[in-house]
This record gives sequence, structure tokens and C-alpha cells, in this order.
Amino acid sequence: MARIIAVANQKGGVGKTTTSVNLAAALAIEGESVLLVDIDPQGNATSGLGVDPMTWGKTIYEALINRDNIESFIMPTEVNGLSLVPSNSHLAGAEIELVNMEAREQRLKEALTEVVDRYDTILLDCPPALGLLTINAMVAAHSILIPVQCEYYAMEGLGRLMESIQRLRQSFNPDLEIEGIVLTMYDARNSLARQVVEQIRGHFKESVYHTMIPRNVTLAEAPSYGRPALIYNAASAGAQAYLSLAKEFVVHGEKSTR
Ligand SMILES: Nc1ncnc2c1ncn2[C@@H]1O[C@H](COP(=O)(O)OP(=O)(O)O)[C@@H](O)[C@H]1O
Ligand SMILES: [Mg+2]
Repeated sequence: MARIIAVANQKGGVGKTTTSVNLAAALAIEGESVLLVDIDPQGNATSGLGVDPMTWGKTIYEALINRDNIESFIMPTEVNGLSLVPSNSHLAGAEIELVNMEAREQRLKEALTEVVDRYDTILLDCPPALGLLTINAMVAAHSILIPVQCEYYAMEGLGRLMESIQRLRQSFNPDLEIEGIVLTMYDARNSLARQVVEQIRGHFKESVYHTMIPRNVTLAEAPSYGRPALIYNAASAGAQAYLSLAKEFVVHGEKSTR
């Protein structure tokens, strides 16, 4: 059965999608069978994997709202072993449409039960909000991977995220864990960034991955070519950092299932 990991942080622009796409690709390159589910109406993970969100027909929206079988719209990607469930802007309506539906928090979990046996890892790329889509991800997930940008306001909002996780534990998902915190867009020349890293490591201790993702132009460029960095430019510091994160992630996973 797959480990299901929600990549979440209600702040936008912290590296959720970059981490989802590149960690998913790195795990696939390491030999895992991986499914990336885009649950952000912006569809950045979808386009980042070379799929035009607007030309593709069925998306995660149909699985959540109509309970359509998710299997029929899983797409292969250029990376062997990595598949995608796409999203597009229609999903924006789901936040509202779900409100009055039965089992509104559990739709994604239900949708994934059909495919969970087929993958080693399922990553859920969450939108920048703590609304029903992110809640669906937190109900479906075994754990949460939190990207945190190495900047002055990094800690801001993390308290609220931790509270949400705590609430989910008390309601729908008592076993929900923090998979880890990944520091993104790190610039070693910036003394402020170094202080932020110290602060976050001091606070969250061993929950923080050793691997830090550097600020790297390949990571910013690759999505416009519809490719993960490891395909677009495998030698880049960004691609190599995600490969190293994937290795740490696998070791963590082996520990937590022991
Ligand atoms: N390590 C990085 N180095 C350089 N640019 C990055 C890095 N990580 C993300 N970006 C860029 O920063 C922006 C926000 O990242 P993204 O992953 O889309 O964040 P989120 O999904 O949390 O909103 C994007 O334009 C992305 O290409
Ligand atoms: Mg995103």
C-alpha cells in the first residue's frame, strides 16, 4: 500500500509544487512507483509535468464532486514510474460545491482507495489555503510534508498549520504525522537565510530534513518546459538537491513503517 503524503503549507510561493513535482520525479528515478495528484486549481503541478491543464478533460475535480473513478484519468508522464492526476481551474469551484455534500472531507480519501495498492508513494500537491481541498488531502494522507521558504516570515503561519493538523488528528485522521519540514530556496550567501534555518531547526529539531533546497534557476525554469528539473537539467544543484531529499525521504519512510 502506498504512503500518501500531502505537501501542504497555506502560504503561497513556498515551494509546494516545486517540491511535489521534483520529489515525485526523484522517487520515480530511484525506482519507486509514484502518483502525483494535483489538487490545486492553479494546476501548476499539472503544467509542470507537461500537461496543459485546460486541454485535458477529466481532472481530480470529477473524482471529488461526481465520484468518478480516478483510475480513468491517471496520466503517464515523461518520467518512467511517475503518473499524474491532473487539475485545472474548474477545481476552484469544488471548495464551494463540496460544502453541502455528504462526506465532504473524505472524498479524496475515497477516490484514492481504488489505486492506493498500485503505488509506493502518492504525493498530493495542495493549494495555498487551509480550505476543504487541503482538508481532503490531510484526511487522505498518512503524513504531511511541509515546505518552508528560508525567508524572514518563514515561521509565520506554521502555528496555524500545526493547529489544523492537530484538529485533523482529533477528528478524521488520528494517525496523521508530520513527515518532515523541507527548507526551500536557501541562499547560503544570505545571512538572514542562515538565521532562519537555525531558528527552524532549533524549533522543529529532527523533523527538519538535512537536505536543503537551494535557490536555483533550473528549478524555476524547468516548469516552463513542462519537465521536472531532473529531466530538464539533471546536473543542476536543484535537481541534485531533490534527489538527495528523495533518499532521505525513503529512509524516513522505512523507519516509520518499521
Ligand atoms: N528552490 C527554488 N529556486 C528557485 N526558484 C524556486 C525554487 N522553488 C520554487 N521556486 C519558484 O518559486 C515560485 C513558487 O514556487 P512553487 O513551488 O510554485 O510554490 P507553491 O506551490 O508553494 O505556491 C515558482 O515560480 C517556482 O518556480
Ligand atoms: Mg503550488
